[in-house]
Amino acid sequence: MKLLVTGGAGFIGSNFIRYMLGKYPDYEIINFDKLTYAGNLDNLADAESNPNYHFIKKDIADSKAVEGILSDGVNAIVNFAAETHVDRSLMNASEFILTNVLGTQVLLGAALKYGIEKFIQISTDEVYGSLDSEGYFTEDTPLAPNSPYSASKASADMLALSYHKSFGLPVTITRCSNNYGPYQFPEKLIPLFIANAMEDKPLPIYGDGKYIRDWIYVEDHCRAVDLVLHKGRDGEIYNIGGGNERENLWITEFILDYFHKPKSLITYVKDRPGHDRRYAIDATKIKAELEFEPAVDLETGLEKTIQWYENNRPWWEKIRTGEYIEYYEKQYLQREKI
Ligand code: NAD
Ligand code: TYD
Repeated sequence: MKLLVTGGAGFIGSNFIRYMLGKYPDYEIINFDKLTYAGNLDNLADAESNPNYHFIKKDIADSKAVEGILSDGVNAIVNFAAETHVDRSLMNASEFILTNVLGTQVLLGAALKYGIEKFIQISTDEVYGSLDSEGYFTEDTPLAPNSPYSASKASADMLALSYHKSFGLPVTITRCSNNYGPYQFPEKLIPLFIANAMEDKPLPIYGDGKYIRDWIYVEDHCRAVDLVLHKGRDGEIYNIGGGNERENLWITEFILDYFHKPKSLITYVKDRPGHDRRYAIDATKIKAELEFEPAVDLETGLEKTIQWYENNRPWWEKIRTGEYIEYYEKQYLQREKI
């Protein structure tokens, strides 16, 4: 099997490549990544000596580059490449459209041209919009994205399904809840709060902090994608969830308690515009069809994650310089406290 993984230098993509190289020693894996601010080759430094792993620095929206790789005989594509941060999409959405929408369409078109046997589009539960305190997202929940990020992912999903319906491209979509674990860029809630807590910096809570996410450990997500790649049905959507709904404040207090840091580090700041109140996944379909069960409970996964950030301080300290500081200042330090 020759597998093209796009966005493999990011958080989930790098965990997925490591997982697949370990599980399938005879697979050849090409990591196709533009290396945006979120792409980091340090994430896969341990894979560089593996003769079955290759990296290519290219943009998924560049059709020549994509066709150049596919013409060499790729069996399957797993598309993780995306702009992924909601807050950045609120500051400037154009890259989100170029990569998440146009880039996905370029990949789909090339996949069709070169007869790719399986195309996995990695999507998100955020395409469903927001839930109140009741109910769950199923695969039939209507799409109702609220941020430019989720709108771009929903657009990509519609395009992917259209290539299946119109041309028979063997596309399958996964929609996963919030991931956490090693190598997550420290702009997202959990790694940001771990790094800030370690440095005695404020932990900026948006709004009342009672927003709910359904957390899944990244390795569980990788296992689910592997199942979908090998056993998922073409033209189908599979929700993936951890079954771990928690308020942001619960996560925050867990991190502070772990480090014995004071609650006074919590700083309430102006809310995110259009902030989705609650995400919660109904994962009945993937459990029944593909026998997927998340293996890591939230407390264990969070402890493992915090320990990883403690043991890999140079990894995130290197990131928290230059462009990151500029972004952080715009995003947080200029947000009024409430
Ligand atoms: P990330 O931001 O950590 O990584 C994204 C990667 O894509 C980076 O390596 C970046 O360089 C690469 N990339 C961006 N634009 C590219 C382009 N034009 N061409 C090639 N590469 C490009 O993201 P992540 O958190 O690992 O998310 C991966 C995928 O999973 C995304 O599609 C995201 O929508 C989806 N997802 C993420 C979560 C989550 O909680 N992180 C949950 C559900 C779904
Ligand atoms: P995030 O990690 O950005 O993921 P997403 O918005 O895709 O779910 O945010 C998770 C939750 O944490 C979300 O409700 C927003 C909130 N949040 C904060 O309160 N403060 C922060 O500094 C960040 C980054 C997020």
